[in-house]
Amino acid sequence: MSQIRPLVAGNWKMNCLRTDGVALASGLAEKANAKGDLGCDILICPPSTLISDIVTVTDGSAVSVGGQDCHFAASGAHTGDVAASMLGDLGASHVILGHSERRADHAESSTLVRLKAMAAHKAGLQTVICVGETEQERDLGATLAVVNGQLAVSVPEGSTAQNTVIAYEPVWAIGTGRTASVTEVAEVHAAIRAELKIRFTDGDGFRILYGGSVKPSNARELMAVKDVDGALVGGASLKLDDFWQIIESCA
Ligand code: PGA
Repeated sequence: MSQIRPLVAGNWKMNCLRTDGVALASGLAEKANAKGDLGCDILICPPSTLISDIVTVTDGSAVSVGGQDCHFAASGAHTGDVAASMLGDLGASHVILGHSERRADHAESSTLVRLKAMAAHKAGLQTVICVGETEQERDLGATLAVVNGQLAVSVPEGSTAQNTVIAYEPVWAIGTGRTASVTEVAEVHAAIRAELKIRFTDGDGFRILYGGSVKPSNARELMAVKDVDGALVGGASLKLDDFWQIIESCA
């Protein structure tokens, strides 16, 4: 674990109706309040329909709330989309951008992710920008080229350690129960760190999260890897006890 204060982020994806979401977030806020200083930051990213409710029940706790996507425009004729300022207006402080499910389901390019990140920063949100290779790309030995390529285009000029978090999420490890080995994680995180240091004067201060089947049983060893500054957690963030155990492993 590096000296950077870790961030544990829960990506709820398209899960939870109000009752379950509010119960999960309240339970988390209660645990965080009871614990005092955790030694790490906690973020949950529910579907945008729940942000307002979740902000209300986590208010005053150490739990921050974020969105899972935003549009690149400030406002306008974009049916079904949500502007960064709208997330901020509800009390969200972060937004996940360029998640592989959005890159795959909505054909989001790294160029689009960069435009979204610029809009989010302008609206005062912190971005969690995701990068990661597919299984085929890894098998071809293209992992670092893919990740560096996504990073170079997705992360806008002017990004800082204060407004940007990077999440390395190998696509083949998301929701599959398969996790990258500590050696694989170390190699990619070191490469990301090197790129950030070349591009940004505070590149050694950016948080680089690992994501992809993080669970209580593997969180501690993953978090011990150099340049792993926290976790982006999908499935396990929907179970309060599992998510809490992961938080405790990161702290
Ligand atoms: P997972 O998802 O933890 O369910 O693998 C991670 C993510 O997609 O952010």
